[in-house]
Amino acid sequence: KKILFAASECVPFIKTGGLADVVGSLPKYFDSSAYDVRVILPKYLCIPEKWRSKMKYMTHFYTDFCWRNQYVGVLQMELEGVQFYFIDSEFYFGGPWPYHNMYEDIEKFSFFSKAVLSTLPLIGFRPDVIHCHDWQTGLIPVYLNDSFQGDPFFQGIKTVMTIHNLRFQGTWNVETIKNMTGLSDYYFTPDKLEHYTNGNLLKGGLVYADKITTVSKSYAREIQTEFYGEGLDGLMRARNKDLVGIVNGIDYEVYNPKTDGCLEVNFDETDFQKGKRENKAALQKELGLKEDPDKMMIGIISRLTDQKGFDLVSCVIEELCGLDVQLVVLGTGEYGYEEMFKHYAWKYPDKVSANIFYSEALSHKIYAACDGFLMPSLFEPCGLSQLMSLRYGTLPIVRETGGLKDTVEPYNEFENTGTGFSFANYNAHEMLATVEYAVKTYYTNRSAWDETAKRAMERDFSWNASAKSYEALYDDLLKKEEISDK
Ligand code: GLC
Repeated sequence: KKILFAASECVPFIKTGGLADVVGSLPKYFDSSAYDVRVILPKYLCIPEKWRSKMKYMTHFYTDFCWRNQYVGVLQMELEGVQFYFIDSEFYFGGPWPYHNMYEDIEKFSFFSKAVLSTLPLIGFRPDVIHCHDWQTGLIPVYLNDSFQGDPFFQGIKTVMTIHNLRFQGTWNVETIKNMTGLSDYYFTPDKLEHYTNGNLLKGGLVYADKITTVSKSYAREIQTEFYGEGLDGLMRARNKDLVGIVNGIDYEVYNPKTDGCLEVNFDETDFQKGKRENKAALQKELGLKEDPDKMMIGIISRLTDQKGFDLVSCVIEELCGLDVQLVVLGTGEYGYEEMFKHYAWKYPDKVSANIFYSEALSHKIYAACDGFLMPSLFEPCGLSQLMSLRYGTLPIVRETGGLKDTVEPYNEFENTGTGFSFANYNAHEMLATVEYAVKTYYTNRSAWDETAKRAMERDFSWNASAKSYEALYDDLLKKEEISDK
């Protein structure tokens, strides 16, 4: 079976968030004797030259798009057994970052979606399923239904639309989207791409895809409610027979404390106490925190946005800093949150370290060194950082939502079960009380803490199980096809 992933980002080429981790790691975990999974991406100018120079030219053509006649180059590259294709357009993909502003991005990714389909016959790859990720590829199922419909090459191709985050939908006024995409009036009604008077690219994908998936079971349920539905809960309810939640995994080869080259010392579930202490001491030194491996350390690695619960953190930041812990932050985002962490790092230099940038290597060191990991998200489709934390024996402290709820089992001091700490309501003091409980457990019941960390490390959040669920989904789609052919 031939599967094509279409997405706007993918590790190791280009990453702005968890989407890139998923698109870059999942294809490796399919049974390659039965599933030929390939990936198609934009060839951004901001992809490091190291990768760009390895891409091989395949072909090029011109396409009419948005009243311009556009060059479309197609390149290819194989990496770790996976075939990657890249769509080249300096006009659209020449910026310093994959995304710019919604207006330009809508045109850019509409172009990409059309170019992906136009490319397939030229490179002779006819997928059975096109698996689209997020709003940037939402128009693929729509174009497939529209201008590509008549071509026998495309007959019977199935589509899957995966929601990594329902908040981002790609919307702009109908007139503009109509002009940009070349789609006719027919598509701009409330049962198709129109959404509260705007045009909506993700909605197009959600209406036209054969199946919809999202990245955890809880989020699949939540988005059918008004609170989490981002205005699309009605559509999610209407399509709930075709909607499934499949939890994300992480790349267990990249995130492996036993072999991780970024760490001071490697460790596994048999010697993590010692291993984590040494990593902590090294990190305290590197970041200029007070060197004391007995001090509990809590990490935050995140986009610094409201989605991730930083308004809760800001309500009780003084109280958090007042606890007997060190706080290590890594990430960028909203100016107010960046400044808040910088301020507290200045105020409590021994206790708080604010690293307002992103570094893959530093993130690994933080996962290894910390004892706890704070992630109080307002909503969380899946979340990957808590999975990385679990793998490194760092106990997540999370709000019970979406993938956080599905992957972190709350510690129960009476039963001695669980893998982390969690709270239900989006409330700063409920979060604070949960952090305090974690701190108390760490200092007063160390053996229970360590057993919890060991359980956390032993949980399996590799891609193995979830890749099987995607295989079953594709099988199901293609089976239906055989039946309807008869
Ligand atoms: C988005 C979501 C996150 C999810 C990731 C990968 O970044 O916010 O929860 O883990 O996509 O699916």
